[in-house]
Amino acid sequence: MKPRPFVKWAGGKRQLIKFLRDHVPKTFNRYIEPFVGGGALLFELLPKTAIINDINQELINAYLVIKDHVEELIESLKRHKNSADYYYKMRSTDPKSLNAIERASRFIYLNKTAYNGLYRENLKGEFNVPFGRYKNPKILDEENLRAVSKYLNSANVEIHNLDYKQVCSKAQKGDFVYLDPPYYPLSKTSSFTQYCRYGFTERDQVELAEVFRELDRRGCYLVLSNSNTDFIKRLYRGYNIIEVSARRSINSKGDGRKKQNIELVIKNF
Ligand SMILES: C[S@@+](CC[C@H](N)C(=O)[O-])C[C@H]1O[C@@H](n2cnc3c(N)ncnc32)[C@H](O)[C@@H]1O
Repeated sequence: MKPRPFVKWAGGKRQLIKFLRDHVPKTFNRYIEPFVGGGALLFELLPKTAIINDINQELINAYLVIKDHVEELIESLKRHKNSADYYYKMRSTDPKSLNAIERASRFIYLNKTAYNGLYRENLKGEFNVPFGRYKNPKILDEENLRAVSKYLNSANVEIHNLDYKQVCSKAQKGDFVYLDPPYYPLSKTSSFTQYCRYGFTERDQVELAEVFRELDRRGCYLVLSNSNTDFIKRLYRGYNIIEVSARRSINSKGDGRKKQNIELVIKNF
């Protein structure tokens, strides 16, 4: 079985995946994904050699545990309950008080049972999403977890929990780097960037564009996704900027899920 993302992730790229597929270079050395999240493109491409990274510690711990201890993780996931009491007890458990396997198990459990499957942290870095009240959430998907584990072990995949810049500094000529940062907000009220306490500011977007130009000079193949805003277009002037339509909840009004050209895919080749 082909592995799929094992968590629902805010900004997950599943909708955009067919489009992105057509913009992958024909050949490349390593695949590098500095903002991996759920890893939609990683699992689509299943590269033989990859470096993946995310600043979210719980997420990266889960990748590592799936790689090295998938059977213990599966056993632990079997023990969870889909009730509000149990959910809030798990939510309030400090992940640092758990061992790596229990910690990954808690993280996956919360992701599958939380409202909207969102992973959102408050300023203290605590997970604060309410219980989702789903009838039958798929807390445990054994087949997929084993498929993910098999892939991470059979390919040469380095997994890091660093700031994206440290991972970008490893990129060399001929590597393919897919950059999917927290999006620049479409409007002042939109909360696109709030799902992570490491909120990505305007300044961060400017710095990322500088990193993009540096990697371009180094001879990497680059694809970046972001929101369709004048600000982002200005930052990447001179590159191949493509507008893509996607269905997204972008505001709380009824028309929030209209199909709009709200995404940009930016390439240097
Ligand atoms: C738009 S999401 C990526 C979604 C991913 N492509 C997917 O398919 O699920 C952006 C990711 O960047 C991570 N992130 C935020 N700031 C970061 C930083 N400074 N360095 C590395 N990762 C960061 C977030 O934790 C989040 O997982």
